[in-house]
Amino acid sequence: MNIISVKDYKEMSQTAAGIIINKVKSDPSITLGLATGGTPKGLYEALIQDHQTNGTSYEQVHTFNLDEYVGLSADNPNSYRYYMVDTLLGHLDVALNQTFIPNGTAEDAEAECERYEALIEQLGGIDLQILGIGRNGHIGFNEPGTPFSSKTHVVTLASSTRQANARYFSSIDEVPTHAITMGISSIMNSTEILLLASGEDKADAIYHLLEGTVTEEFPASILKNHQAVTIIADEKALSRT
Ligand code: GLP
Repeated sequence: MNIISVKDYKEMSQTAAGIIINKVKSDPSITLGLATGGTPKGLYEALIQDHQTNGTSYEQVHTFNLDEYVGLSADNPNSYRYYMVDTLLGHLDVALNQTFIPNGTAEDAEAECERYEALIEQLGGIDLQILGIGRNGHIGFNEPGTPFSSKTHVVTLASSTRQANARYFSSIDEVPTHAITMGISSIMNSTEILLLASGEDKADAIYHLLEGTVTEEFPASILKNHQAVTIIADEKALSRT
């Protein structure tokens, strides 16, 4: 794993944006894997700013998001589809029908998982996957104990994850109990992976990722077995290493 150590959240965001912009310029029809959460917001702002200032085009880009809450529709401000359109996709020149996120309101969630996994394959896989990391080492919504062989699947969210994400909802009761997430093996199939981490909250997770063994009890640890992972972490996230 290649580790880029940066000062703070702003530098993490700008460094990640620089890498992605170069990739999009050299391969305009790249397929990007996108993440939600607080971590990539600054990166997305930097991509929008570059698009508006320098005209980097996303017309031929396809995107796949890692996950979506079960039960939240695209017009629910807490859905990841809403987040993505609001935070990034709606501000770029990419047609929204080239951007894919699991459908959290599909009648048959299992069938939706199969459809999503097949779609990733049909489009030739993900070239560059952006990841955040949960405090318990989750990637996407793959909680501790998820088999490394998992494909896109329905998960029951850990109560710690629901608590961590409750800040976006009016109360913990509103946080969905289930989600659809790309699996660990879906993520590992990406050609390249860029994991971002900022702040003290992530120091334990980054410590375990860098110093610990590869175990399903800490999902992100599998990234050690990927041939092209870059971690961009700030001083606080690296403070335990
Ligand atoms: C969420 C998302 C993950 C994200 C993680 C960290 O539960 N499903 O994709 O990486 O938690 O979130 P944050 O960046 O807000 O700390």
